[in-house]
Amino acid sequence: RAALSNELSGSEVIVVSNREPYIHNRTDNGITLQIPASGLVAALEPITRACGGTWVAHGSGTADRETVDTYDRVAVPPGHPSYTLRRVWLTEEEQDGYYYGAANEGLWPLCHIAFVRPVFRETDWRMYRAVNAKFADAVVAEAKREDPVVLVQDYHFALLPRMIRERLPRATIVTFWHIPWPNAETFGICPWREEIIDGLLGSSILGFHTQAHCNHFLEAVDAYVESRIDRERDAVTYGGEETLIRPYPISIEWPPAALAGQKSVEECRAAVRQRLGLPPEMRLGVGIERFDYTKGIIDRMKAIDTLLTDYPEWKGHFVFAQVAAPTRSKLANYRQLQEEAEALARDINVRHGTEGYEPIKLLVRHHEPDEVFELFRAADLCVVSSLHDGMNLVAKEFVAARDDEAGVLILSAFAGASRELAEALIVNPYNAHAMGEAFNRALTMPLGEQRERMRLMRDQVRERNVYRWAGQMLLAASRLRKRQRIRRVI
Ligand code: F6P
Repeated sequence: RAALSNELSGSEVIVVSNREPYIHNRTDNGITLQIPASGLVAALEPITRACGGTWVAHGSGTADRETVDTYDRVAVPPGHPSYTLRRVWLTEEEQDGYYYGAANEGLWPLCHIAFVRPVFRETDWRMYRAVNAKFADAVVAEAKREDPVVLVQDYHFALLPRMIRERLPRATIVTFWHIPWPNAETFGICPWREEIIDGLLGSSILGFHTQAHCNHFLEAVDAYVESRIDRERDAVTYGGEETLIRPYPISIEWPPAALAGQKSVEECRAAVRQRLGLPPEMRLGVGIERFDYTKGIIDRMKAIDTLLTDYPEWKGHFVFAQVAAPTRSKLANYRQLQEEAEALARDINVRHGTEGYEPIKLLVRHHEPDEVFELFRAADLCVVSSLHDGMNLVAKEFVAARDDEAGVLILSAFAGASRELAEALIVNPYNAHAMGEAFNRALTMPLGEQRERMRLMRDQVRERNVYRWAGQMLLAASRLRKRQRIRRVI
């Protein structure tokens, strides 16, 4: 952490993301603070806390808009402020076009390849462009120097790096794409492909979670724009400027803040079982995500159905608690997913349940990090069955939560995290039968084996934590700045 601040000492850091790290909501109990369910926030918040500076994000809470004067620019985290949260306000029309439309009906399914057809509306794209320009205005207004380090986050801002470059040519722009990048052929169906590539190549450094995503991006550059690609250095020269393309596997802070103040694993086990109305000896699996079709929630329920059919001895002895935080509910396919999951849970509970026993508990509400960590500590197993995921930080959080070194992680081969957490039970979420087997294997795994696997995974997450993720990116940025400075002097 200290190295991070040193690396940046004397530089101005501005982070830009759509999602804000703290949401102020107006409730019957006054203004309350919510930490959103977002891997991006989980990763970047500790970094911004360590570096200081400004975080520019969309103001999304219900309290914000009514009290713009107070909540326009807030010092956060509450109680120990170390950076400024600068909110950008969006109209409903802007959110519909930019966030729901272009970003989440267009780019999200395009990049995830979860067999949901992307929707490309010209009107959405115009709004996406306009909102990116609005954020560029905010970054320029916040910048106190002509050469800030700007950390642009995610698929909401593909055009922003170029827009910032045009107005702050000496800025060091590091962009990180938090979701997968598809192969060039798949990306090629996007009507905005050239503009997206042009926008991203305004960055000094462009990061993805894995080398495979970097390779896919380079293939797309090669296929769709005039440029020179140096494959040895993974660098693209475009319009006379160079962009480095690099893999930076994102991670979590170690130890995670939510672990502080947690009760012992035994106490968590007892408390969670009591809250869920389960007997103390009930075996428990957990899944924790936003209600998103990329997360494979339906597929994991089908696997539980298979488990209870093929291994009926688990009936009455195993419960799966699925936390599903509502998300993007304005979009029809997100609402349909929730309806489908609720119907499937009911059906499985009717077919395999008995008086007083329901194998699936669907907990449809946002859970704060403390509650999530308590569930992780209470569980015998955790399932991450994404159909496709850039990294997936839930998998890493589960591992970090288990300081007792027990518990089994069942992890999709199609989540970036499977590259690093190879000691999980790696599954194909599309194969309900094999996943059902994995559940049984997890439930019967001897404690010694659980510990061996968990220790290796914990070493990995401890070592490759989020400070390292940010440190590598910022180190690359600082080298670049030094080189540019020397070149200017020469
Ligand atoms: O990491 C991918 C991501 O889309 C982030 O950009 C985002 O914060 C998170 O998932 C949750 O999505 P949303 O901000 O749309 O609720």
